[in-house]
Amino acid sequence: GDQRLVDRFGRVATDLRISLIDKCNLRCTYCMPADGLAWLPKERLLTAAEIRRLVRIGVQDLGVRELRLTGGEPLVRHDLADIIAAVRGDHPDLPISMTTNGVGLAEKARALADAGLSRINVSLDTLHAESFERLARRNFLGRVMAGIDAASAAGLTPLKINAVLMRGINDAEAPELLAWSLLHGYELRFIEQMPLDADHGWRRDNMVTAEDTRELLRGEYDLTVDPGDRDGAPAERYRVASKREPGVVLGTVGIIASVTEPFCADCRRTRITAEGRVMSCLFSREETDLTALLRSGATDREVADRWRAAMWAKPRAHGMGHTGLGADDFVQPDRSMSAIGG
Ligand code: GTP
Ligand code: 5AD
Ligand code: SF4
Repeated sequence: GDQRLVDRFGRVATDLRISLIDKCNLRCTYCMPADGLAWLPKERLLTAAEIRRLVRIGVQDLGVRELRLTGGEPLVRHDLADIIAAVRGDHPDLPISMTTNGVGLAEKARALADAGLSRINVSLDTLHAESFERLARRNFLGRVMAGIDAASAAGLTPLKINAVLMRGINDAEAPELLAWSLLHGYELRFIEQMPLDADHGWRRDNMVTAEDTRELLRGEYDLTVDPGDRDGAPAERYRVASKREPGVVLGTVGIIASVTEPFCADCRRTRITAEGRVMSCLFSREETDLTALLRSGATDREVADRWRAAMWAKPRAHGMGHTGLGADDFVQPDRSMSAIGG
């Protein structure tokens, strides 16, 4: 049979996302509670050797073609560079990317690039210190900016910026964020807020939609859908032209419309949480533990079989958008975004 990670709906998961740690040094309101989250004890986290083995099984036996490291915040993991170097040693051609909040990146970007990291996506919702503190409950904007500079200098490119717009906090800043990204040559993506916050404060009728975002940008820019193949990516890409000099393309911007324009039908993702559980979808209710298998002397074959079985059960779609304004047929997962890894 097909040895790849196929599901009942014919999708094939080729993009592996592994969360390295559940801890984070920011507290973004749409992702984490202000306090009171209990971190996983260290012995429950996948070890570097276990991560290396899972990637090897994924690539050699299950058709994985891309790896993304997530968290929590992956930079918080002390052996991050060692993990990257080990995986890179096994797979010279595997694209290895990372999604990070950028805090501490200034100090580590060069070492991560040297270890074999290919590129990074940095979360940055605002260019203003007060808004940053409102959104992230920490005052680290300067560190994030320094991290982005260092990553760019270290060649971790194309560098993408992830921005979640929150009504009344940073939505008016959308054109400014785009101007800044275009100036520096970063690819900005605006992300619709999903109901993955710990405080369950998400409201369908209060979120900034993809259409709201396009409207915010249209004041200063002309957007046309990039005709290139989207290729299963969450982001729809747009060409950006200046309103003042029509026809002059300034770059591109992405919009990730998980809620209002879902892309589940083309999903290629398989996730492993920091404690070694397969999540077939960001919103799957089921989690399939691989750690116990790994630690009980199971063969690669047995691990691969369990992983494949987990992915077979992947839900068709998340269901967030089904009811228009309410979210009544949608059950928010118990895990917050920080515990899944984005
Ligand atoms: P590249 O475009 O290849 O760099 O990757 P990416 O956009 O998948 O990576 P990133 O980790 O930066 O993800 C950006 C955002 O896309 C996440 O924060 C999520 O909001 C959204 N996203 C990623 N994967 C999924 C998914 O499987 N389902 C949904 N609904 N949203 C996702
Ligand atoms: N909805 C959408 N995106 C989110 N992220 C975190 N929480 C949410 C949410 N509730 C994004 C972050 C980061 C990535 C890991 O996930 O902005 O870029
Ligand atoms: Fe913010 Fe990412 Fe940390 Fe969540 S995991 S609090 S989005 S930096």
